[in-house]
Amino acid sequence: MKKMCETSIDYLRISVTDRCNLRCIYCDPLQDCEFMPRKEILTFEEIHRIVELFAQCGITKIRLTGGEPLIRTNIVQLVRQLAPIRGIDELTLTTNGVLLESMAAELKAAGLKRVNVSLDTTSRGNYKQITGFDLFEKVMKGIYKALEVGLKPVKMNSVIIQGVNVSQVPALARMSVELPVAARFIEYCPTGRNTRPASSYVPNSEVRRIIEHKFGPLTSTLSARGNGPAMYFKIADSAGCIGFISGASGFFCRSCNRLRLTSDGNVRPCLYSAHSYDLKGLIRGGANDRQVLDLLKRIIAEKKNFTKLNSFTEDFCMRSVGG
Ligand code: GTP
Ligand code: 5AD
Ligand code: SF4
Repeated sequence: MKKMCETSIDYLRISVTDRCNLRCIYCDPLQDCEFMPRKEILTFEEIHRIVELFAQCGITKIRLTGGEPLIRTNIVQLVRQLAPIRGIDELTLTTNGVLLESMAAELKAAGLKRVNVSLDTTSRGNYKQITGFDLFEKVMKGIYKALEVGLKPVKMNSVIIQGVNVSQVPALARMSVELPVAARFIEYCPTGRNTRPASSYVPNSEVRRIIEHKFGPLTSTLSARGNGPAMYFKIADSAGCIGFISGASGFFCRSCNRLRLTSDGNVRPCLYSAHSYDLKGLIRGGANDRQVLDLLKRIIAEKKNFTKLNSFTEDFCMRSVGG
């Protein structure tokens, strides 16, 4: 299917590691996806070169993801290397927040602009049930620290799952009343293997109904608009805002502006398709900049004409693709 309108491809998400210090039930709770041998993971030099070349092709925004990006050794140094690259206007990072309190200040000083933090509950026990670890307080301290050092706006990502954390929706929404954060609700995407079935996703229409029942009508706002598909709203008199990312019930291929670089060096034009380009193979095969640029331009041209039906066709490892 052809895209109806052309969006410029200006956003690259880079998974810097497939390792993680949590085991979220919607990600890879039993560690079915095998860790990639370390030699398969892109080095900082390779990532730096790839970003420089992508910047020459119109990419202006970079998001570092994982796995958990903050457990990649010397990640602050990578931020310091990428932030000044000509053409890159915005360097951001998505983290589970466990290490954020200790690293926020140096990340900010290294040139990171803002962070998105995964947090699916406000209850310590529920957090342990969802992630496998008793680290709720640590993540909260990370969010406060990120706000304090100015990694703003801080956006939270909450994946709502039937029978797991639906009852947490009001408390998560309340965080946006009290704190200047975007409380974002993400529809669960099944990735196969041992994650929950697709039927356990909660449509954002239902999440919104729960929030409005508790806090009154939401009003539309553009205040936290980022590079992703989130739609933003506000609870009256709140410090922050509410966001909905409706990957399961919505359809935003037409406005999709992003490419994904997996931790093992493949470029994926679409989260929902295993179709990928072996960039690492080309680079490690000794390609010169011209040859790499030719591939990147081809990927971008092909992406502009790519629309995937909104359903998964293959199992995949979220940790390696980077969400
Ligand atoms: P900003 O809006 O710029 O803050 O970033 P973002 O929302 O793109 O980044 P983040 O890493 O926080 O992404 C949050 C989640 O949104 C992802 O993990 C996905 O679950 C979902 N998401 C982001 N982009 C897409 C997309 O292209 N398709 C789908 N289905 N989901 C997406
Ligand atoms: N479905 C929806 N969102 C997911 N994330 C991770 N796994 C899934 C999934 N199966 C989200 C996390 C994280 C973001 C990068 O991806 O909330 O914040
Ligand atoms: Fe780690 Fe993120 Fe997967 Fe949770 S969703 S296990 S924090 S990579």
